[in-house]
Amino acid sequence: MYSAKVMDHFQNPRNVGEIEDASGVGTVGNAKCGDIMRIYLDIDDKTHVIRDCKFKTFGCGAAVATSSMATELVKGKTIEEAMGITNKAVMEALDGLPPVKVHCSLLAEEAIHAALWDYAEKHHLVIPGLEKPKSDISEHDEEEEY
Ligand code: FES
Repeated sequence: MYSAKVMDHFQNPRNVGEIEDASGVGTVGNAKCGDIMRIYLDIDDKTHVIRDCKFKTFGCGAAVATSSMATELVKGKTIEEAMGITNKAVMEALDGLPPVKVHCSLLAEEAIHAALWDYAEKHHLVIPGLEKPKSDISEHDEEEEY
């Protein structure tokens, strides 16, 4: 059911933890399944490069695996590049997810956006393409087709 990469990132998640004095923190949940994800970003104020990214996920295995992969993908990227890391990109990097688990990958994308939003607010920045994130992504689910 799960790819080898999903199993690897679920069993050995990368970048678990917190960043003290993080540049941006984002927390999102899915009221339907009750899962919650928090992302911490350490961003260089001059270059806007994401130096570090950590996460905490209270959720299913697919949510853990997608958070782990998402943190790996955004590290070392600029804010603009990180905006291009969609849930589809995270799923591709994991060699896919079963259709019923697609919504779990949305938590990762939305949590990164929430952390970037927090950073932008603190620094009075406008990040192109970034909209105010939802704290509950279950509304997205209605739009997904399984
Ligand atoms: Fe809720 Fe996976 S079942 S995030």
